[in-house]
Amino acid sequence: MSFPLIRHRRLRGNTAIRNLVREHALSVHDLIYPLFAVPGTGIREEIPSMPGVYHLSLDMLTSELDEIVELGIQGILLFGVPEHKDECGSGAYHEHGIVQEATRYIKQRHPQLLVIADTCLCQFTSHGHCGVVHHNEVLGQAEVDNDASLEFLVATAVSQAQAGADIIAPSNMMDGFVHAIRTGLDEAGFRHVPVMSYAVKYASAFYGPFREAAHSAPQFGDRRTYQMDPANVREALREAESDVVEGADFLMVKPALAYMDVIRLLKESFDLPVVAYNVSGEYSMVKAASAQGWIDEKSVVLEMLTGMKRAGADVILTYFAKDVARWLMELPRN
Ligand code: PBG
Repeated sequence: MSFPLIRHRRLRGNTAIRNLVREHALSVHDLIYPLFAVPGTGIREEIPSMPGVYHLSLDMLTSELDEIVELGIQGILLFGVPEHKDECGSGAYHEHGIVQEATRYIKQRHPQLLVIADTCLCQFTSHGHCGVVHHNEVLGQAEVDNDASLEFLVATAVSQAQAGADIIAPSNMMDGFVHAIRTGLDEAGFRHVPVMSYAVKYASAFYGPFREAAHSAPQFGDRRTYQMDPANVREALREAESDVVEGADFLMVKPALAYMDVIRLLKESFDLPVVAYNVSGEYSMVKAASAQGWIDEKSVVLEMLTGMKRAGADVILTYFAKDVARWLMELPRN
């Protein structure tokens, strides 16, 4: 008998055969690009820890949107960075809030581009938490009040839908938020608007650059009373299950890179589309290392995102979306 008994290399011999047996491929249709809109005019400010990502005033959004559409990217995730913040995040649900204004602006110019509105209060609250804060007399400390926050989150979601948002993406991690938002949307006549739930969102250090970008770092304490402990995975099932029962249309896992097992678990456990959020810290790490010449950016990004697909992601939210769209247009990989 000849040795080796089994020759795996037969299927790796040349480009054509590798293309033939490739199991997973990225498509531009998988990608969603996050955008940060700010009030004012003439603003195009690069976020220092996220090279290539900008704060954009509406007038400066135009060329960015044209580029996104031209690259074939079908959707954007919209964040707003307001001028003024207050205790209950009123800028999040104001008819003329930055997200509402940006949504109207985008839908006017590119009606076919999916606007996914991030539904959270943390960019809009003076304390930087994702809900409203009350003083707990018993514990003698401030805490994020779950049930009181829901009403503000519903108001935010409804006002985003009224402005024309195609998908509502609540990222606040309050209990019951999917049910509350689904009911609120239905009652306001937005039965057709899907909810992309940040179902499993970990209390992660990988959000560092985003918080700089969105000026949304909590002013006291941290988010560990509402975001999940990175050590837990069975709890992710409970989180996702409640969102499914409450009517979520997509389940998101965030961050992505350190949580590939969670992506796979959700894919196997539920029938809903799974979304992976390739977050700011994951972006910044790659940017920093490639600027040093330590890694090859394109290969690393494609490998990372293909890994997310392999893990089970149907959709990938990524600051690399434009680059990936460009790379996918180039000659096929070998
Ligand atoms: C708001 C929100 C955060 C991110 C998206 N929505 C930050 C946080 O929870 O602190 C992070 C996105 C990223 O890091 O790219 N709740």
